[in-house]
Amino acid sequence: MTRDGTIALFFGTRPQVIKASVLWEALARVAPVLAIDTGQHYDYQLHQVHYDQLGVRPPNAHLGAGSASHARQTAAMAAAAEDWLVAHAPRFVVVIGDTNSTVACALAAAKVGIPVAHVEAGLRLSGGGGGGALIPEEVNRRRVDAIATVLFAPSRRAEEILRRERPDAAVHFVGDVAYDVLQRTLPRLPSVAAVPVYDRGWGSEFVFVTLHRAELVDDAEKLAGVMRALAESPLPGIFPVHPRTARALERLGNVPIGRLRRCEPLGYLESIALLRHAAAAVTDSGGVQREAYWLGVPCLTVRDESEWVETLESGANRLVAPAAARELPGAIRGAVAGRGRAGQRGGWDPVAYGDGGAAERIATILAACLSSSASK
Ligand code: UD1
Repeated sequence: MTRDGTIALFFGTRPQVIKASVLWEALARVAPVLAIDTGQHYDYQLHQVHYDQLGVRPPNAHLGAGSASHARQTAAMAAAAEDWLVAHAPRFVVVIGDTNSTVACALAAAKVGIPVAHVEAGLRLSGGGGGGALIPEEVNRRRVDAIATVLFAPSRRAEEILRRERPDAAVHFVGDVAYDVLQRTLPRLPSVAAVPVYDRGWGSEFVFVTLHRAELVDDAEKLAGVMRALAESPLPGIFPVHPRTARALERLGNVPIGRLRRCEPLGYLESIALLRHAAAAVTDSGGVQREAYWLGVPCLTVRDESEWVETLESGANRLVAPAAARELPGAIRGAVAGRGRAGQRGGWDPVAYGDGGAAERIATILAACLSSSASK
């Protein structure tokens, strides 16, 4: 069945559901949209909670991917996406970010001749992120950026990279869709005191900790080093644990966690409510690095490098290599002591990723692509 002018929006992991909450709505104002959840994430607290909190309607299709090794997961999603695309023949496919869902659906679309638009295009780790090798996310986004015909950059730097790499593609700086979501959500955040894992006695003197990247948590020595360092944190902390990390910690056995409080993965609203009040964030997540920057909260990123270079340049974010994790307690002390310069909470001006109108810009540009291809 061909649906004239239909846009197919694919997503499937936690950060993608969050971004789809604004994208779907903006795209639906300019074209019929069919939304497809790949099923890469499926736990309630990792996935459905974000549908519920951000008002995302149930998807039009679910590919039921589930967990498997990278190649198997990617192949299963590509095969299911191909079946869906052949049956529905949308005019455009929109994919988000750098996950296995992103590359699987982009590949399937490109191979059946449907143009692909990539949201959050042009991010790069100059060292590949894996000590010389490319981490899976870097493999995914480089492939997707090579096959998409419309590339939406979240920053001017990403735009420049794409203009160099893809002079044949339509490259647009639109800003970061994650900023749209944050801005829209701030007025309806719960109070931090309403988040059960939070201790009212802490005030803002606590750290918000998240760790989930395979290259860190699946390396027992690195993870143990980071956990030992966090157990020495000068401040108490809240540590919502991703299922991948929970399994890795179980394998490590009894690691001391000092004054960190472990909890299940949190909904978007609770995460942002906590992060906004925290003295500092300690994370390996791309999302938390930017959210901390926007909220004026100092961030320590437990990685060798970051794609979100502007957060590092602004002073909002500092890298602590996992191999140097013993520096974390001192780095937390330093980050907390440096708060509040230049009038803002963190003392930096978070302007690198647009103005919160990314989803609207994407919709306007895709509407123009649809009408120009319709008139040919
Ligand atoms: C994926 C993305 C990463 C993104 C992250 C957000 C890739 C390569 N990585 O990593 O870029 O930042 O999502 O969370 O796509 N699992 C559950 N329940 C779930 C989902 C997963 O228990 O609902 C388990 C799986 O069995 C697997 C592990 O968690 O063992 C990791 O899941 P996976 O989909 O491979 O990637 P993430 O680590 O979540």
